[in-house]
Amino acid sequence: MPINLNAPLAWEHANSDEIAMLKDLQGNILKGHGRNYTQNLFFTLDAQKPQEGRGFLRVLAQSVKSAYQQLLDAKAYRMSRQDAGVFVSVVLSAAGYKALGIADDKVPADPAFRSGLKQRKDILSDPEIDDWDPGFQDEIHGMILVGGANEAQVREVHTKIQQQKPASVRIIGTEYGLAMRNINGDGIEHFGYVDGRSQPLMLQEDIEREKTEKDGIDIWDPTFPLKQVLVSCPGGASADLSFGSYFVFRKLEQNVKGFKDREEEIAEQLGLKGDDEELAGAMIVGRFEDGTPVVLQREDGLIKPVRNNFDFRNDSGGNKCPFHGHIRKTNPRGDSTALGATLEQERSHIMARRGITYGTRNAEIDAEGKIIELKDKPVGGVGLLFMAYQSNFENQFEFTQVSWANNPNFVQPSTGIDPVIGQGAGSLTPQQQPVDWGSTTKKPIDFHGFVTMKGGEYFFSPCISFLKSL
Ligand code: HEM
Repeated sequence: MPINLNAPLAWEHANSDEIAMLKDLQGNILKGHGRNYTQNLFFTLDAQKPQEGRGFLRVLAQSVKSAYQQLLDAKAYRMSRQDAGVFVSVVLSAAGYKALGIADDKVPADPAFRSGLKQRKDILSDPEIDDWDPGFQDEIHGMILVGGANEAQVREVHTKIQQQKPASVRIIGTEYGLAMRNINGDGIEHFGYVDGRSQPLMLQEDIEREKTEKDGIDIWDPTFPLKQVLVSCPGGASADLSFGSYFVFRKLEQNVKGFKDREEEIAEQLGLKGDDEELAGAMIVGRFEDGTPVVLQREDGLIKPVRNNFDFRNDSGGNKCPFHGHIRKTNPRGDSTALGATLEQERSHIMARRGITYGTRNAEIDAEGKIIELKDKPVGGVGLLFMAYQSNFENQFEFTQVSWANNPNFVQPSTGIDPVIGQGAGSLTPQQQPVDWGSTTKKPIDFHGFVTMKGGEYFFSPCISFLKSL
């Protein structure tokens, strides 16, 4: 029976074909792997020695965690806190497929994938390639993602890969991910805000948990079909059961001092004092630092659980959550229907975000390592290893970055760009920030430039049978 890509999957009640599909699909696509320590190993292959590259990937495929195994591990962890061990996945760039000598009809077809991220620089308003970190400036053929519960676990896998690989496979760069959690146990990013709460859910079991253990799904429905992220895997063992996903990696450096200082300036400009100062930043991100959506209330505190069952219908003027707020720009939750899009079209742009923070901070922490307070304000060296899965680069990552975040006229003329990730010429248009929560009076603010793209690539996460067949 073919897999129904138009609906989510109930994996605990999967039929034999669905189980076969999950066993051939790499983990992390339908659900985040959840490890706190990661390494991204970027590698090149020697096009003159494709057999060596193929052999290396064939061996590596034995360690790759399938979606099915990941789900079994996650279930065991939930029941008995049993450590699921390391997580390994591997993705290839279009140049990587070429270096392996893969026939054109077996190379994933997405045109942006085939061009590579460097070729899309101008469309995305990305910095000049000379300004990227050196490891990203040259051709990249693939990336191995290793995740673990601690640094030693991850380092051990890295060492093993270094020992096993032929000389023609070169590790040209490593990025170290280190998750941060606030005192409530929620993941945060370096500006101090809860991140990763809102995700498209493609597993029925996750949707049920959202309904019963979180704040419900009747206003914002996080249910998404498998086709949001899955596409057929060329070269896989089965035309019906082998799937892969397009994967974008971008190293995004964060200037924490710049961002935090500007938040304070804006609070002052708007006359927000004491606890109210928090409102300035909440209107920039769309959530307070603890994750409370600013559209729901004027102060933080909606944390058990962090809310995600909301939209912006009760704020059609952008007076509570401004139209420029990062979460409103990157998921308008129906706003763009006013421009003639259907909700289904709008939702087709959503991708599965799987980023992790990098860099260390000076912080007050509790006995479990949860962050009570971030003490320092670095200007660089910290940020987000942004990663996301999708079925179409142009319609998902690129649409979000270009047509929403970088576009000063989305969702209304003179909205301004996304103050967190917006870049390009549109940054000349100031954002209009309400002077207080719910106020129709707005003041122009100029908020951009605190996140800098330092390099990345477009990849494809192939099915495991493809890797084993190399
Ligand atoms: C350093 C860079 C970034 C920072 C600091 C950041 C921060 C955040 C935070 C704090 C949230 C709220 C938590 C949540 O709702 O899950 C969020 C949500 C989100 N971000 Fe980002 N983000 C960054 C980069 C990006 C990029 C590059 C994109 C896409 C092009 C993106 C797309 C999204 C989306 C789609 C959501 C969920 C919105 C929703 O469904 O309500 N973010 N981000």
